[in-house]
Amino acid sequence: MSFPKKFFWGAASASYQIEGAAFEDGRSLSVWDTFSHTAGKVKNGDTGDIACDHYHRFREDVALMKELGLKAYRFSISWPRVLPDGTGKVNEAGIKFYSDLVDELLKAGIEPFITLFHWDLPKAIYDRGGWRNREIADWFAEYTKVIVDALSDRVRFWMTLNEPLCHIMLGHHTGHHAPGEKASDKEIVQMIHHMNLAHGKAVKIIRNYAKTPAVIGFVPNPSTGIPLTDTKEDIEAAKAYTYSGAARGLFSNGWWLDPILLGKYPKDGIEAMGEDFPADVIKEGDMEIISQKLDFLGLNLYFGTFISHDKSGGFYEVPKKPGYPINALKWPVTPQIMYYMPKFLYEKYNLPIIIAENGISLPDWVSLDGKVHDPNRIDYMHRYLRELKRASEEGVDIRGYFAWSILDNYEWAEGYNERFGLIYVDYETQKRIPKDSFYWYKDVIASNGANL
Ligand code: NOJ
Repeated sequence: MSFPKKFFWGAASASYQIEGAAFEDGRSLSVWDTFSHTAGKVKNGDTGDIACDHYHRFREDVALMKELGLKAYRFSISWPRVLPDGTGKVNEAGIKFYSDLVDELLKAGIEPFITLFHWDLPKAIYDRGGWRNREIADWFAEYTKVIVDALSDRVRFWMTLNEPLCHIMLGHHTGHHAPGEKASDKEIVQMIHHMNLAHGKAVKIIRNYAKTPAVIGFVPNPSTGIPLTDTKEDIEAAKAYTYSGAARGLFSNGWWLDPILLGKYPKDGIEAMGEDFPADVIKEGDMEIISQKLDFLGLNLYFGTFISHDKSGGFYEVPKKPGYPINALKWPVTPQIMYYMPKFLYEKYNLPIIIAENGISLPDWVSLDGKVHDPNRIDYMHRYLRELKRASEEGVDIRGYFAWSILDNYEWAEGYNERFGLIYVDYETQKRIPKDSFYWYKDVIASNGANL
């Protein structure tokens, strides 16, 4: 036994990171356009104006996906491309782009997975208060309805929010991402709650209006605890860390997983906030909307933290030793998360799991032979996928794996410095060169992981 027969071997991307065509065909601005055009916010002043020019080259890109043998492709919709004012008038050219992309994928035998929100909030919505304004939940539902009406005759798989934690915390708390705010803890809870509410309303819309039976999930990026040893005590400690709402500073895991999957905010998180917890933001009936039944849990997994137990039954983080393997962003390489996270989260939330993102940024370049050799990406994926296989063999219901990313692309505040792709992009010429890892992954897909 390895992976289930109909396993979704995929790759992922996001609108602002690859599309480009930022000022074309009626698209309006997102918070990322204004942020990236503000001096000093993004490395080298890079913007998503052109990115991978995928908006014009999607047929070529889908042809590469077909060559790779992908079973599924996860992409996000740019809200300001389809609803330039955030709500109201629909931009038909924007709809046409996604409709054509879906057709092209289906023609290539690739299942489309749609992410509704991957951080490019319309500026128009931000100007109306963004996530602070409770009405955003209805605006998001309206946007969802537009997409469901246009695409659900052909699209079956839906992901509402991508890494809401990053969008809220990096975008509104540390200020490292768009829109670049430094809001208070109290305001952050308000935004989290409105975002969770938006998710719940979107799920209802998809369920009620999808023209083909919908399969729905959301994609958090939980902080992941890896037991330092395989003793019972360390495993319990790592679980406690992973389930906590306040493990990695405030607002981690339980703030997203618990309301959406269990209908409540995490006790330890609320306690940690004390007086600051704005209970009045949560209205009657909200938790029921937020905790609509889902069909799967999407997980973006990159790296984890080693956790051990302490004498009082608590947990603590164990620092990594000097020289520990890292990627170009200095993120540690910790394949064990691919085993423990699906296991821990399946045990607690009991939903099928889809790895919605996993990958590595490396300083790839084109060699003298014209190819891109990336042995460390192959080794990374090999190690991570073997751990995922182990979880699957032990009975965790894992339905798919999406490599991040199909193409090198715009890595947010890091700009184009970081290369996560299976396909190298020369940003001067927009030439695509499949890396060695592309051909390696192709064999993995063809053998359904038997060669791992
Ligand atoms: C998470 C995000 O969803 C994606 O947009 C980003 O590029 C990757 N991780 C890598 O940082």
